[in-house]
Amino acid sequence: MAASRGLTFFAARGLPCPEDKGRFKMQSNDLKGLTEEALPAIAAADAASLEELRVSLLGKNGNVTMLLKSLSGMDPEARKTAGAAINHVKTQISAAISARRAALDTQALAQKLAAERIDVTQPPRPDYLGAIHPLSRTQEELAAIFGAMGFAIKDGPDIESGWHNFSALNIPSHHPARAMMDTFYLASGGVLRTHTSPVQIRTMLDWAKNEGLGASPAPIRIVVPGRVFRSDYDATHSPNFHQCEGLVIGEGIHLGHLKGCLRDFLGAYFGVPELPVRLRSSYFPFTEPSMEVDIAWNRKTGEIGGGTDWLEIGGSGMVHANVLANCGIDPRRFQGFAFGVGLERITMLKHGMPDLRLFFESDVRWLRHYGFAALTPASLHEGI
Ligand code: DAH
Repeated sequence: MAASRGLTFFAARGLPCPEDKGRFKMQSNDLKGLTEEALPAIAAADAASLEELRVSLLGKNGNVTMLLKSLSGMDPEARKTAGAAINHVKTQISAAISARRAALDTQALAQKLAAERIDVTQPPRPDYLGAIHPLSRTQEELAAIFGAMGFAIKDGPDIESGWHNFSALNIPSHHPARAMMDTFYLASGGVLRTHTSPVQIRTMLDWAKNEGLGASPAPIRIVVPGRVFRSDYDATHSPNFHQCEGLVIGEGIHLGHLKGCLRDFLGAYFGVPELPVRLRSSYFPFTEPSMEVDIAWNRKTGEIGGGTDWLEIGGSGMVHANVLANCGIDPRRFQGFAFGVGLERITMLKHGMPDLRLFFESDVRWLRHYGFAALTPASLHEGI
C-alpha cells in the first residue's frame, strides 16, 4: 500500500479532508477500489496497524464514514442505491476487522501459552514448602494467649455503618478520623472500618439484647483480630492493615484489671515475663480515662524489655459511659476496659522487620525468610 495521502476523494466532493493518518490512508475513491485495497490490508495487519486501519476506515473521519456522510448531498434515488452499497462495504470491512482481531488474539494467546508452558513432569523443588504468614502467626499467638485468659475471639464486618464505626463510639462529627482523606467511604453509604473498635459496639449490643442486663458479672471478655482500612501509605502505614481489639465489661472492672491484662498479654507475646508496660495519659473519644500503651525497649539494639526507652504499641482506656449507654448497658452498674494494638506493628517489633509494606506484597522470598513452619501451631504450653 502506497503512503500517498489519498485525499482526492474528499476534495472532489467538497468534503472536509480527514486528518492524515499516514501510511494507512486508502488511495481508492470508489467503493470497489476501497474494498479491494482495504480487505487485503486488514488480512495482513498486525494488532497495532489493525487499529490504525479501523480508525482510517471506520473512524470519525474514516473513508467509509466520509462516504456515508456524502449521502446527504445526493438525491433520494441515488442515495438509496449508494447507501446500500456503502453499508454493504462497511459490513464487509467491519467483519474483516473483527475476524482479523480474533485471529490475532488467538495467535497471541497461543504464543503466550507456548512461552509460559509449565513442565508438569518436573519433580517439586524441595524448598517449596508452604509457610505461615507472620501476621497469621501473630493472630494464632494472640488466640493462644487470650484464650488462656478466658477471652473469646470475635469478628465483625469489614464494611461498617458510620454509626458503628464512629457515632456509637462517641466520635464527634468533626473528628479528623472521619475526614474524607482518612477514611474510605463507599457509595452505599458505608465505610471500610477504620479500626476494630466497632466490634465492641456489636458485641455489647448483642449482649444487651440477648442476655439482658442480669447476666453473669463479667459478661463480656473478647479480643477482635481483624483487617482495618485507612487512606495512608508509607513505610509504616498501609491502606489495609490489622488490629486486635480487646474488650472486657463487667461489674467492678477497673484500671488495675486493664494494666494487669496488658502486662500478661505483652509479656507472653514478646516472651519477656517481666516486660515493663507503661500507661501514658492520652485521649480517645470512646474511653475515659484514655491511655497509650508503651513497652520498654532499647532504641539502639531494638531489644524489647531492655533499655530505658519507651515504645508506643497501642491505645487503651476505660470504656466511656456514653459508649456503654449507646449499647443499652447501664454505666452505673457496668464498667469495662478496652484496648487496641496494631498487629503489623507488634509483629514487626517482635521479629525485627523494617518495612510494613512487605506484609502485603506476596513476595515469596520475604515469606520464606519470615514465615513460620506450618506444623508448629502457637501454644502457651510449648511457649510462644
Ligand atoms: N481504635 C483506636 C485506633 O484505631 C485504638 C484504640 C484505642 C482501641 C483505645 C481501643 C482503645 O479499644 O480503648 O487508633
